[in-house]
Amino acid sequence: MQVQTLESWKALQAHAKEVSGQHLRDLFASDPQRGERLRAEGAGWLLDYSKQRVTDQTLQLLLNLAREVGVEQRSAAMLGGEKINVTEGRAVLHTALRAPRDADIQVDGEHVVPEVHAVLDRMTEFARAVRSGEWRGFTGERLRAVVNIGIGGSDLGPVMAYEALEHYSDRDLTLRFVSNVDGTDFAEKVRDLDPATTLVIVSSKTFTTLETMTNARTARAWLLDALGDDRAVARHFVAVSTNADEVQKFGIDTANMFGFWDWVGGRYSLDSAIGLSLMIAVGPEQFREFLGGMHEMDCHFAEAPLEQNLPVLMALTGIWNHNFLGACSLAVLPYSQYLRSFPAYLQQLDMESNGKSVTLSGERLSVDSGPIVWGQAGTNGQHAFYQLIHQGTRLIPCDFIGFARSLNPLGEHHDLLMANVFAQSEALAFGKTPEQVRQDGTPEPLVPHKTFEGNRPSSTLLAQQLTPRSLGALIALYEHKVFVQGAVWGVNSFDQWGVELGKVLAQQIAPELSSDGQLSHDSSTNALIGWYRANRSA
Ligand code: F6P
Repeated sequence: MQVQTLESWKALQAHAKEVSGQHLRDLFASDPQRGERLRAEGAGWLLDYSKQRVTDQTLQLLLNLAREVGVEQRSAAMLGGEKINVTEGRAVLHTALRAPRDADIQVDGEHVVPEVHAVLDRMTEFARAVRSGEWRGFTGERLRAVVNIGIGGSDLGPVMAYEALEHYSDRDLTLRFVSNVDGTDFAEKVRDLDPATTLVIVSSKTFTTLETMTNARTARAWLLDALGDDRAVARHFVAVSTNADEVQKFGIDTANMFGFWDWVGGRYSLDSAIGLSLMIAVGPEQFREFLGGMHEMDCHFAEAPLEQNLPVLMALTGIWNHNFLGACSLAVLPYSQYLRSFPAYLQQLDMESNGKSVTLSGERLSVDSGPIVWGQAGTNGQHAFYQLIHQGTRLIPCDFIGFARSLNPLGEHHDLLMANVFAQSEALAFGKTPEQVRQDGTPEPLVPHKTFEGNRPSSTLLAQQLTPRSLGALIALYEHKVFVQGAVWGVNSFDQWGVELGKVLAQQIAPELSSDGQLSHDSSTNALIGWYRANRSA
C-alpha cells in the first residue's frame, strides 16, 4: 500500500492547499498561548514545535496519518523483536542494548538481554583495567592512547559521542578515531603516539570493510615495526565485531573480542560494544548513564500518547515540511561546541536509513522520502550558511538544540550562545516586513534586500545540561524519529543496499590501477583510470 493512496494523506494534501497562504505571524497572533501549547517533554528534553507551520488541524491530520500507517503497531513490532528488516531477514533491536537486566526481549525464542549484559560486563571489566593501568602494553608500560579504527556506524557514533562527552572523559587518555582509507588519516592520527602505550580497537560489524581492514593492517605493521614481536598484538589490539571467524583470521584472539549481533544495525550500534572507546574514555558508570538516557527515551517513545510523543511529533512535522511544504533538507544546528559532530552522525543515521526509493514490497515510492540532513554547531553556521536559510529561495526547516547550563561557564558566553538560539528561530519564523524595514529609515532601493519574509519553520530542543544521560536520550530521540518517518513512507529503514555497487566497483578497479591491462569500463572511467595510471608514480 503506497502512502499517498491513504485517506489521511489525501486529507493532508487538500489541507496543504487550504493553508498555503498562512504565515507563522498570523498563527501566533491568533493564539497567544501557541508557544506554551505546542510543546512536549520526554526523557529530560523539551521540544518546542510551535514555530512549525502547523495548525491544530494539521496536527490532527498528521496524527491520523501516523495511525493509518500503524506507527504504534510498527514500533511494537520493532521493540518486540520481530524481523522488520525484511530485506535482510533481521530483527531491529538496538533498544535491547540499553534495556535493563530484567527486561524480557527475544529473537527466535532466544533471550537477548542476558547476552547484552554479559558483553557490557566484559567491556566494563576491560575499560576499568585500561583506565586503572592494570592492563598494560607489551613492554609493561601503561596505555595512554586509544585508537578506534572503524568507519560509518563503527566510527561516526563513537567520534560524535566521545567529543560530546569529552568533559566527562579521563584527560590522561588520548582518544583518536581513524576511518578514512586515505593513509593520511592514519598517519596524522598516530604521528605523536607511541605504539608501546597505544591500544587499537578495530571496530567493524562485518570485519570485512575495506577501509577498516586496510587501516587495521597498517596499524598492526606500525605496532610490530616498533615492538618487533607478534605477541604484542594480543596486548595492543582488541576487536569489536559480530564476525568471530574474520577476527581470528586477522590474528586477534577472540578472547580480546567484544561481540554484538546481526540485529544491531551499524548506524544504531554506538550503544553496543562499538561504544568501547567511549566507555574507556568516560568510564563504565558514565557509559551506563548514557545507556540509561537512551532507555528513558525508548520508554517515552513506547508509552507516550502520539500527540505528546517527541519522536512522533518531530517525525510528523518533518513529513509535513518534506512532503507537503516542499522542503528537501533539514538543518540540524546544535548550539554546543561539544556536539559539533552531531550533524555528521545524523547524516548516516537518517540518510542511510531513509534514503530509499522503493517501498517495503519493492514498488517504486511515489512520494519523497528521507531529507538531506546537514548542519554545524552554532554560532559558527550563522556566519556561513544561515544567509540562505533566512533569505534564500528554498525552504530549509531547522532543528535547534541547546542547554540551560554550560559545562564551561565563562562570563556571559552561555547567555550569548543561547540568545542566538532564540534569536535565530524568532527571526526565521517572523522575519521583518518591508514596512518594518522602512521604519528603520532604510532607503527604498534597499528595502527588498533587507526584508525577511519569515515563515521558515523550526523546532527547538532544550535540556538542562549536556550529560551522558541527556546525550543518550537525544540520540534515541532521533533514532525513533527516523523510524517513524520510515514507517510513514513505508520503506525499510534498516538496510543499505545503496552503498554496495560503489564498493564492488572499487574492488574491481583497485588492481587495475597498478596494471596496464585492457580496461572495459565506460569511456569516461577508462580515461580517468588511464590518467591516474600515467601519473601515479611520477
Ligand atoms: O556504509 C555502509 C556500512 O555498511 C554502514 O552501514 C556501516 O556502518 C559501515 O559500512 C561499516 O561497516 P562495518 O561496521 O561492518 O565495518
